[in-house]
Amino acid sequence: MERSEIKDVLSKGRAGDAATVAGWIKSVRASKSVAFVHLNDGSTFDSLQVVVPETFPGRDAVLRQITGAALRVKGTLVASPGKGQALDLAPEEIEVLGECDASSPVQKAGTSFEFLRGVAHMRPRTNTFGAVFRVRSELAFAVHEFFRERGFALCHSPILTTSDCEGAGAMFSVTTLDAEKPPRGEDGRIDWSKDFFGERASLTVSGQLEAEILAMSLSKVYTFGPTFRAENSTTPRHAAEFWMIEPELAFADLKDDRELAEDFVKAMVARLFERCERDLRFFDERVEKGLRAKLEAVATADFGVIEYAKAISVLEKAGRTWDHPVSWGRDLQTEHERYLTEEYAKRPLFVIDYPKTIKPFYMYCNDDDKTVACMDLLVPRVGELIGGSQREHRLDRLLARMKECGVDEKAYSWYADLRRFGTVPHAGFGLGFERLLMYATGMENIRDVSLCPRVPGYAKF
Ligand code: 4AD
Ligand code: MG
Repeated sequence: MERSEIKDVLSKGRAGDAATVAGWIKSVRASKSVAFVHLNDGSTFDSLQVVVPETFPGRDAVLRQITGAALRVKGTLVASPGKGQALDLAPEEIEVLGECDASSPVQKAGTSFEFLRGVAHMRPRTNTFGAVFRVRSELAFAVHEFFRERGFALCHSPILTTSDCEGAGAMFSVTTLDAEKPPRGEDGRIDWSKDFFGERASLTVSGQLEAEILAMSLSKVYTFGPTFRAENSTTPRHAAEFWMIEPELAFADLKDDRELAEDFVKAMVARLFERCERDLRFFDERVEKGLRAKLEAVATADFGVIEYAKAISVLEKAGRTWDHPVSWGRDLQTEHERYLTEEYAKRPLFVIDYPKTIKPFYMYCNDDDKTVACMDLLVPRVGELIGGSQREHRLDRLLARMKECGVDEKAYSWYADLRRFGTVPHAGFGLGFERLLMYATGMENIRDVSLCPRVPGYAKF
């Protein structure tokens, strides 16, 4: 269909140019003499104003259309006498592509994010969600650019897997066995050897272990793919399906890992300012006041670093009553994470060297034999944005940790092989893409940065 994108028309068009555009009506405002129709095609936040004069043939048919209807308009650009835009479109031909009536759910002005979650198939038509998904796309490309510019190879780690990277037992099973009558062994338990893969398979919780395979050959790799966690968690930060970016670096320790993570987050913020200027302005004005200033500070400040043990003592001395108890050996909860980054450090903060008892088997054990060389990056409002570590590359230590954690040595013998044959110090991290988007846009619920959020009790479409 012949048309120009509204983004190009608004940025490159000049009064007198002919233009044909297509889009959805954002608003119609009619007076006796003229009617203003705002048309948006999603190529940019702003809409093009079509000014329909009283004498326009077929004006009534056009004015019957309401927000949400789809039009194609052929006309001439004219200098706009109004405020807020340089150009208007004077129509010569208006074609109604798709009617829309008042029963459309996005008609209701001022509908809340919560309401819109119930009509997730319609919400990208709103200004806010249009902006969210444009930013999401830009940042996804920026992720690939960042790693490519630094010589990382893209690793497609599998979605279907027989490994449990995080060992948290929060995996979705993938099976073709008859759910009503699965084959059972003599002990009465399900016989997974009869399943499609000949063993029990799941959706991956992380591409890390397989990225380690490729890092042991290409040195610098990253994965960027969907991950799945069957945690029964309904917080605004947890989804059952989310995308994760996981670089894996050979010949690297925790410090190298931390430096990469800091560069990466800063580069994403810089790219946001560069490529998403218009949408960012909207988020700053309408979603989180002061967002730009906060993000600007991130792009320039050095991130803090604190050891877990020190963080515990900071929390103990904070003079607060916590909902979740604080003591050495317990994991940090969101309230603790937010205090540390928002009030104690007042900037993004790496918490490093957690007790090994609360972390997975693959992390490098520090000399104290109590802590592991790991890092969580905490950022204001979101809490944990990144989790990463140096990996245990010493075979004997890895095998001992697997035993301690109840990890089946046979099933993970391939992973141990990476240490048996030409092992090297290596490290990596995972950044939750939706959490980055929450951070970048000011949106407060992970359900509002995913096109089709998957959370306990909900997987529509
Ligand atoms: O800290 P996590 O569990 O680390 C890993 O999975 C490692 N294998 C990563 C690695 O070293 N390659 O998860 C990493 C990040 C978290 O910091 C968080 O941003 C995000 O993934 N995340 C979630 N995001 C949304 N919903 C959930 N349920 C999430 N769980 C983790
Ligand atoms: Mg984590």
